Amino acid sequence: MSHSRIFRDDLLEGQVAIVTGGGTGIGAATARELCRLGATVVIASRKESNIRPAAEGLSAELGRPVHGAIVDIRDRDSIDRLVSDVLGSHGRIDILVNNGGGQFFSPAEAIRPKGWDAVVATNLTGTWNLTRAVADGWMLANGGSVINITMLTKRAFPGMVHSVSARAGVEAMTRTLAVEWAARGIRLNCIAPGFVASSGLRRYPAGLNIIEQMRSFVPMKRTASCEEIAWQVAFLASPAGAYVTGQTLTVDGGKELWGDWWPIPDPPDMSPVEIPREPWEETE
Ligand SMILES: NC(=O)c1ccc[n+]([C@@H]2O[C@H](COP(=O)([O-])OP(=O)(O)OC[C@H]3O[C@@H](n4cnc5c(N)ncnc54)[C@H](OP(=O)(O)O)[C@@H]3O)[C@@H](O)[C@H]2O)c1
Repeated sequence: MSHSRIFRDDLLEGQVAIVTGGGTGIGAATARELCRLGATVVIASRKESNIRPAAEGLSAELGRPVHGAIVDIRDRDSIDRLVSDVLGSHGRIDILVNNGGGQFFSPAEAIRPKGWDAVVATNLTGTWNLTRAVADGWMLANGGSVINITMLTKRAFPGMVHSVSARAGVEAMTRTLAVEWAARGIRLNCIAPGFVASSGLRRYPAGLNIIEQMRSFVPMKRTASCEEIAWQVAFLASPAGAYVTGQTLTVDGGKELWGDWWPIPDPPDMSPVEIPREPWEETE
């Protein structure tokens, strides 16, 4: 059994967590951390080829079972099956980590309707689908903690207009549900990662080159590890986060504050800046 480098082993003992996209990258690191803290963890995504090896690998590594399930968060029937299976097997759902998601890098003018719809269906509607199903099945009656993994939404995110729009929607949803469901004992928060050195970045054609370039635009001059995101999930899920709801926690090494990685070339005829003089000012 490996131990958390930050938190106490029994911090989440007796709790049941679902982590979507838990077979890869940030989701797998989150599943590992929550399991280390004593939670019963179910990782869920579309591909058996992601879920099965991760569930087996994490179970072997941690010396306690990490359960795998297949779900497509865009498909409400599939979600209903997941929620009823988890409740049937484990009896409760205290923590929901909506980490499953994805997009493709594209200038806005090259995004087709199908591409836009798919990204919004996964990242916005998919997050709503599972949140609502878990609330209906367990949390509205018993409380719980929902943590949504989003992205940096406060400034422009060129090349990702579909996803940043969907994630901003998730953050608005989170604030709204935090108010509506506070009296039900449900806390909802987002974690907005900057650039994380996860297996997910391999999906982008430029692969590791992108990570190398991106870190120059981060004040801390490095990417985050998946574990650094997982720690924030654990914090928000734990009693340390008991009075935190409706918030977005940015975990980006300062990226959102600085750095422009989308070059906007100057026009060739850019004229010098002229500061107008008032009529009463003397001309030189
Ligand atoms: N890495 C970064 O720098 C970064 C930065 C900001 C935000 N994020 C976000 O953080 C989350 C995790 O990213 P990651 O870096 O760990 O990348 P990743 O490995 O690509 O993780 C995405 C996960 O989502 C699952 N997924 C995708 N569509 C799904 C669907 N319809 N239903 C259920 N599961 C689905 C995938 O599994 P299946 O293919 O098996 O379904 C995969 O496990 C993503 O939402 C990502 O956009 C990442």
